[in-house]
Parts: sequence; C-alpha cells; structure tokens
Amino acid sequence: MISFGPDRAPELLAHPGLVPPPAESGPPGTLGWLRTSVARFATGGDHARRRTQAADLLAAMDLDVLRLRAEVLACIALEDAPLDVMDRIARDVPVRTLAEALGAPGLDPAAVRTVAAAYLTGDAAPETDAAVAALVAAFGGVPDEPTAARIGLLVQACEATAALIGNTLAAGGGLDPADLAAQLRDDPPVKATTRTAATETEGLRPGGTARIELDGTAPFGAGPHACPGRDQALAIATGVCEALKRVAPPTGPIAYEPRPNLRIPASIHVRMDP
Ligand code: HEM
Repeated sequence: MISFGPDRAPELLAHPGLVPPPAESGPPGTLGWLRTSVARFATGGDHARRRTQAADLLAAMDLDVLRLRAEVLACIALEDAPLDVMDRIARDVPVRTLAEALGAPGLDPAAVRTVAAAYLTGDAAPETDAAVAALVAAFGGVPDEPTAARIGLLVQACEATAALIGNTLAAGGGLDPADLAAQLRDDPPVKATTRTAATETEGLRPGGTARIELDGTAPFGAGPHACPGRDQALAIATGVCEALKRVAPPTGPIAYEPRPNLRIPASIHVRMDP
C-alpha cells in the first residue's frame, strides 16, 4: 500500500486508473450483495446509474424537514438523559431521520450500525448478513438496486455523520452551523479513503492499494465518488446540535475509537443543563 497526502486527493480521486476497492459478491440480501449493488464500490456505467439513483433519492428530501425531524428525535432521546450521545443519538438520529425520509420509519438503526461496521472491509459476520436482510425487509423485501441504493445511503450516513456530531460536541466550542463548518474544515471526520490501481500507475502495480488522505479542503471527498449527501449531512447534524444545546458541556477527556480512516469519539456522556 502507498499513502498519498491530502494535497493529492482531488487529483487522485479523479484518476481513471484508481478505482474503489473491488467488492466480492454474495447471495441476494447479504453484505456481498449490498456491496456489489451500490455506487460506492462500482465504476463506469454501473457507478453512474447507481449514483443517479442515490442523487434522486437525496434530491427528494426536504432539508428543513430533515433538520427539524433530527432535532425532534434528538430531543426525544434526551428525555432519557443522562446518556451517551454516541450510543443513543449521534448515529441513531441521523439514521432514523433518513429512514423516515426514505419511507421506512420503523427501520431498526441497530441493523444499519451492524452493516456500517463491515461495509468498507466486506468482513461479514453472520449477524451482518442478517442485518442486511432486515434492512431489505424494511424497504419492502426485494433485493434489487433501488433497495440497495436506500440501504447504501443509510450505511454511508451512519458513522460519518455521527463523527461530525460527536467531534463538534467534544470540541466544546459551540453547536451552531458555523461550528459544524469549522469542525469540517479543521478536523474533518473522514481522514482517508482507499483506491485500487486498475493499471500500473503512481508507483502501484495493478491491484495495488492507495491510501488517500483527506483534510478540511475536501472533507466530503472529491471526484466521481465524492459524497452526494453533504447537504443532508449538514441539515441533520444542525438539527441534532440544536437539541444538544440543552445538555451540559461534556467534561473530562474523550476517548476516540481506534479507526484508521475515521475520527469518532467512543462515547460522550452528557446530562441536561440544569
Ligand atoms: C459529515 C458527514 C459525512 C461525511 C464527512 C461524508 C464523507 C464522505 C466521503 C469522504 C465520501 C467519499 C468516499 C470515497 O471517495 O472513497 C463519501 C461518499 C458517500 N457518501 Fe458521504 N459523508 C457524510 C454523510 C453522508 C450522508 C448523510 C449521506 C447520505 C444521506 C452520504 C452518502 C454517501 C454516499 C452514497 C457515498 C458514495 C458515493 C459514490 O461512491 O458515488 N454521506 N462520503
């Protein structure tokens, strides 16, 4: 594997010879099926078609509804405070908000969390495939590309949006949209992504892996696979942060999960501001 700094990210993420890591297929309704049915790991015509499906679903969402619904759901969760924001709000509220917008209000966010944990590597445990099957069922039970696009949006949103919310709360500076923007600029949640060399390029043999670091100049990536959910992520994070203004600022050191490509607090325990 060769690592490249964030200054090379826009160029390398648009490089036609560097493609997402290949995904191994699996029976319909499994993690392998999901990974080989979404835009994230696809190239060429498959990618373009699936990307359009995802973009159409996102374009149909009203950003004000997302923001307000995220605030309401976070306020409801805070009725149980004291609680761990990362465990109860940062992942579950964005996922629930998006699931409602995608027409699956009863969907279990825990299934999305289980799938998200294995989505990038493809390392499926028995419970991973069961979680994918549960999500397919929540979207009507047909394991086809439109269903995969919906599940893909939830899975992509889960960890990165949680990280932005958690890091902004942990920074202690404020919870307004300007603070989210500063967080994205100064300490973006997604630290790197990977690509596989389709041909010999950039010192890589065909099949070799490039680790491409991201910084605050491109917190949502770049090129054909750049995040299509930026506006939705910001709307939801803004709503959640509005609700979190009611909690006392977290005190004490915050531990971070040991993830190579994502900066995300392991837990943030809060209580309501008296
Ligand atoms: C703060 C929150 C978020 C951050 C920082 C973020 C960041 C990123 C980045 C860096 C990529 C590119 C990965 C790569 O090139 O290898 C990406 C891809 C993607 N993101 Fe996000 N994301 C966030 C939230 C969301 C949300 C809320 C959604 C959907 C509602 C979403 C949907 C997607 C999808 C579908 C892709 C794959 C696009 C493709 O392969 O064509 N993301 N995201």
